[in-house]
Amino acid sequence: MKGGIQMQNGLAIEPASDADIPALADLWHRCNLTVPYNDPVEDIAFARAQPNSEVLVGRIGAEIVASVMVGHDGHRGWLYYVAVDPDHQKSGFGAEIVRSGEDWLRARKVRKSMLMIRDTNTAVRAFYERIGYEVAPRTVMQRLL
Ligand SMILES: CC(C)(COP(=O)(O)OP(=O)(O)OC[C@H]1O[C@@H](n2cnc3c(N)ncnc32)[C@H](O)[C@@H]1OP(=O)(O)O)[C@@H](O)C(=O)NCCC(=O)NCCS
Repeated sequence: MKGGIQMQNGLAIEPASDADIPALADLWHRCNLTVPYNDPVEDIAFARAQPNSEVLVGRIGAEIVASVMVGHDGHRGWLYYVAVDPDHQKSGFGAEIVRSGEDWLRARKVRKSMLMIRDTNTAVRAFYERIGYEVAPRTVMQRLL
C-alpha cells in the first residue's frame, strides 16, 4: 500500500507525486543534502518505484516545506532525505516529518527506525537526539555494486 494523506499539526503529509520532483530536488539542494555521486531525481524515482519505500512530502498549502524518504529492507526501517525548508525550520516540522516516516514504518510492522548522518553534518545529531534517537553502537560498512 503506497498512498494516504496524513494531516499532522501543521503539515499535510502525503507521498510525493511526479509533479513534486523538481520542488523536492530543489529543497534537497537548499538543505545541502545533495552530493555529486547521488542524483536526487534518480533517487526519488527509484524509491517511489519500489513497494517497500516511499518519498513523503509535507506541505503548507501547495508549497513543499519538508520531506523524508522512508523504506525498509525486510528487517529494519531507514530514513533518508529528512529536510525542512530553511525558511521554515525550528517550527516543529522536522519532528513531524520524521514521525510520519516512523508511522509509515509502523504501519508495515517495522520495529526499528534507522538513519545515517554524514560526517560533515554533525549539527543535526542534536536534532535527532531531541526527538528520541540515539547513536547505535554499530559500524556501517559498504561496497559499491
Ligand atoms: C534537521 C532538520 C530537518 C530539523 O528540522 P526543524 O524543522 O528545524 O526541526 P524541529 O523544529 O522539528 O526541531 C525539533 C526539536 O529539535 C531541535 N533542533 C532542531 N534542529 C536542531 C539543531 N541543529 N541542533 C539542536 N537542536 C535542534 C529543535 O529546537 C526542537 O527542539 P524542542 O522540541 O525543544 O523545541 C532541518 O534543520 C534541516 O532540514 N536541516 C538540513 C538537512 C539535514 O541536515 N537533514 C538531516 C540529514 S541526516
